[in-house]
Amino acid sequence: MKSIKQATKEFDMEEIRRRAAEARKKARLRSSTSDTKRDGSHQNSYRCPKCKDEEGFLTRSEDGAEIWRICDCKGARRSERLFKSSSITEKFQQKSFNSFSLNVDPGVLSAYHCAKEYAKTFGDLIKSKEKNNGIALLGQVGSGKTHLLMAIANHLIRHGVQVVYFPWVEGFNEIKDNLSLLDERIQQLQKAEVLYIDDVFKGRSRPTEFQIEQLFAIVNYRYLEGKPIMISSEKTMNEMCEFDQAIGSRISEMCENFTVVIDREMTSNYRLRKDKVVL
Ligand SMILES: Nc1ncnc2c1ncn2[C@@H]1O[C@H](COP(=O)(O)OP(=O)(O)OP(=O)(O)O)[C@@H](O)[C@H]1O
Ligand SMILES: [Mg+2]
Ligand SMILES: [Zn+2]
Repeated sequence: MKSIKQATKEFDMEEIRRRAAEARKKARLRSSTSDTKRDGSHQNSYRCPKCKDEEGFLTRSEDGAEIWRICDCKGARRSERLFKSSSITEKFQQKSFNSFSLNVDPGVLSAYHCAKEYAKTFGDLIKSKEKNNGIALLGQVGSGKTHLLMAIANHLIRHGVQVVYFPWVEGFNEIKDNLSLLDERIQQLQKAEVLYIDDVFKGRSRPTEFQIEQLFAIVNYRYLEGKPIMISSEKTMNEMCEFDQAIGSRISEMCENFTVVIDREMTSNYRLRKDKVVL
């Protein structure tokens, strides 16, 4: 009987041969469809000439064996795909820690440090299988909560982590407009590597039963699976618990290592500042 190692090796060779044949076929196809420049010379449309957009290429190892090497462009392409599927708009992709002014009230500064620390230690949190691996920035309107969580999301995506963005009001409007997508969307929010819910429980009135039910399905799934959430809300944990204790207490536990509540003071509202820099 073949050992597992032997079988794996044979499988690897088979895989390499398959990829090589595929790469040759694609290369032939591409060269036959390459554009012709005005001067008559050919230019191909590869974004990465090194791997001909295969994200890897066949090469030989030191001992002469044919190996598949991953190209440097693969990471950037993954981030590009992750940004596209994250629902993060181009404007939000500009938000970063560098563009966040530190000339702010102490509560906002704590939120900044908390967010920075979270971004820095995210990899370790996941590796250590820490269950309480979320972050919540709560309180004062216009104080930079969304900006800071976006800075984290952008940082994570650039490092290859999948983040899905769900803005409370717009997200539910979209679902209401197309209820046939409900199951698919909720599953996506449950299973994303990281879920960022912006402005949880926003609105002058109570959240609807429908919103509570869907949010519970999402939060409870992630709670049981130990999957990270990022939450921004004008509400405090207590206020969230008043709306729904099952949801509020789970969010509170999941984010207990990274929660900042920014006091409700108008001086912390960046939108009202005369010296604000608008990007
Ligand atoms: N310290 C800061 N430096 C630079 N820009 C900031 C800062 N704080 C907030 N902003 C900018 O001010 C605007 C409002 O901030 P943001 O949307 O992040 O606030 P928020 O706390 O999420 O508000 P809301 O509770 O209304 O959702 C954004 O354009 C954001 O980029
Ligand atoms: Mg916000
Ligand atoms: Zn490449």
